[in-house]
Amino acid sequence: MKSSVWHPNTQMSEWEHFPEIINAKGVWLIDSQGKKLLDGVGSMWCNVWGHSKHELVNSITKQAKKLQHSPMFNLTNQPSEKLAKKLTSLSPGMNHVFFSDNGSTAMEISIKIALQYWSNLGVKKTKIATLENGYHGDTFGSMSIGYVPEFFINFKSKLFPTIKFPVPNKYRLPKNYTFSDYQNFCLEKIEEKLSNNNSIAAFVMESGAQMAGGVIIYPKNFQRKINKICKDNDVLFILDEIATGFGRLGSMIEYENQRCKPDIVSFGKMLTGGYLTFAATLTTDKIYNAFLDNFHQMKHLFHGHTYTGNPIAASLALTNLQLYKKHNLIQKLQAKSQIFQKRMDEFYELELVGDVRCKGMVMGIELVSNRERRTPLKSSKSINKLVFEEGRKHNVYFRTLGNIIMLVPPLAISSNELNFLLDGTLKTIKGIASKLK
Ligand SMILES: Cc1ncc(COP(=O)(O)O)c(C=O)c1O
Repeated sequence: MKSSVWHPNTQMSEWEHFPEIINAKGVWLIDSQGKKLLDGVGSMWCNVWGHSKHELVNSITKQAKKLQHSPMFNLTNQPSEKLAKKLTSLSPGMNHVFFSDNGSTAMEISIKIALQYWSNLGVKKTKIATLENGYHGDTFGSMSIGYVPEFFINFKSKLFPTIKFPVPNKYRLPKNYTFSDYQNFCLEKIEEKLSNNNSIAAFVMESGAQMAGGVIIYPKNFQRKINKICKDNDVLFILDEIATGFGRLGSMIEYENQRCKPDIVSFGKMLTGGYLTFAATLTTDKIYNAFLDNFHQMKHLFHGHTYTGNPIAASLALTNLQLYKKHNLIQKLQAKSQIFQKRMDEFYELELVGDVRCKGMVMGIELVSNRERRTPLKSSKSINKLVFEEGRKHNVYFRTLGNIIMLVPPLAISSNELNFLLDGTLKTIKGIASKLK
């Protein structure tokens, strides 16, 4: 079928047609030709239980029949209130929740809260510090804080400037550095800047790992040390757990695992198990209280969306979080994550594989054309198209990030299915290698 839809981040000229998914069950997507594909992308990193989970489907229909939407302007609704309580009980130090529609808007809200916080206090702190290679979404504010040159160069002139610091990537270290030296170098740079510049409002980073940056997993204590530098210098610490919270890296709340105390944190993606678009930005009493005053002081948060706190999405998120507890999901992930770890070496046996990185339920496989020089793999069409087509032959759905194959399956994938995914990935890489010869 020729598509009238303009697909996201897609060179449309490469695609005659897109396989049409008509049905899905568990980890399997079924297309209009009856072909089954294992969802290796987890509905773009947000799927928890697989598709058609009856508890989640029932939650949607039940709430839709009762109250499909009611705005948060002058009103409230029970699912949003209950969910806010649940989220603050799960997230240490957090007391207040602002709901939005997706990860990008949640990050916009994080920055707006931080900037208005200082403004409300009458303190002139307006700059935002971030890590290079981070990604926080596709809207202008989130592109500014998560500037990925390959993605956003066309919009650069309209993005606000940020202060950027390097991030340690073990596979691509600058010359003459050990991994440990480079970590120290990055931290020293941050400390030096933050302690000599009192106009920095906030430091923003992904929690645990840079996902879209290619599964760059932070070394132990790296995030915690940045948190401390921020605290010492009165800079707000904002974490983005949109892709890494709720189990993707093996922990429920990744900042807790990293022993951090953020001022603001955002969740999205897996919040609804991958069934509806929804996100949440959480903050502390300290931040929230700076927005309270007489109305005419105009200190209230200037942000709002039509669908903020949508009751269907909120009750769905509550059901999803109840299922985490009922099925003891986080504990179960540890055993499954071991499968990724145990099978890593099989990838290193392949000539096209330069590096393999994994943590929890995500694996990034970096494809290179020259292992010694670590040259990213290139081909006449996009690597994504190449991998997608080859993967389809082996019944796996892939979406790569440049030359990096991302394995981000539904969290509740069974061990057999995970092994099927890894076998299919190995076959796919071998297939590409023979095509490129
Ligand atoms: C870390 C991170 N933040 C923010 C976003 C943006 O989320 P959304 O695509 O829902 O706008 C993403 C999306 O992949 C992400 O990985």
